[in-house]
Amino acid sequence: MSIHIPDNTRKVTTRRLVEMKQRGEKISMLTAYDYSSAKILDEAGIDCILVGDSASNVMAGNATTLPITLDQMVYHGKSVMKGVKRALVVVDLPFGSYQGNSKEALASAVRIMKETHAEAVKMEGGAEIRESVERILCAGIPVMGHLGLTPQSINKFGTYNVRAREEAEAEKLVQDAHLLEEIGCFAIVLEKIPAKLAERVSRELTIPTIGIGAGGACDGQVLVMHDMMGINRGFSPRFLRRYANVADIMTEAVGRYIEDVKTGDFPNAEEQY
Ligand code: KIV
Repeated sequence: MSIHIPDNTRKVTTRRLVEMKQRGEKISMLTAYDYSSAKILDEAGIDCILVGDSASNVMAGNATTLPITLDQMVYHGKSVMKGVKRALVVVDLPFGSYQGNSKEALASAVRIMKETHAEAVKMEGGAEIRESVERILCAGIPVMGHLGLTPQSINKFGTYNVRAREEAEAEKLVQDAHLLEEIGCFAIVLEKIPAKLAERVSRELTIPTIGIGAGGACDGQVLVMHDMMGINRGFSPRFLRRYANVADIMTEAVGRYIEDVKTGDFPNAEEQY
């Protein structure tokens, strides 16, 4: 049996993600919205960076992802791209920029690609957005699908609870996943669905599934960087593993800085001209 040694310098492409699934190598993905964070994630070796519309929540402080605009996603996408050399960068098409009709959807995707230089877009939904996904794919723009808990539809769901527990919704999700694969999506995010269902979808598809709250059988995992870093302290769903407590580190550092300024300890003789 040969052991695969990951290539830490070769650019990650949509094609490479599919190859990773084929050889059973898990895909790591995190969100980023700015240059400095994206640079850190890229240099640490992350495979894929999602410029998520979760920027609406964690960057802008909105309660949902709905208010973020295409202009704002372009701004975040451009900033991230400047910090990335190796990771594949995917930018979310925001709410209202692709649901109207396929012409509008294509125009939104083209703007993202032309102005940010990212390599793919992500869109929420299945059969209901088929025409838009197909038109974008026809223009040569790679599309990542997103099924299960799709936060742009929060007002329809009325809750952020686990989706597709019922058979009818689970069957629709499986059909949508096959449809997205058939029309040419290169990967699908599965958000907050039962692990067994995600395992079935991952087994049946040849394109990779990237899970968030969808269990360990997915071909990759994605988390919102602010959640896993412990930047926003209040959010702790069951699926989240915290890798750091950055909010605590920042609070402590800011406290020491305030103290040093107040006491006149900062700046000292070496810290001035
Ligand atoms: O916007 C986002 O961060 C996302 C992830 C939760 C998958 O869509």
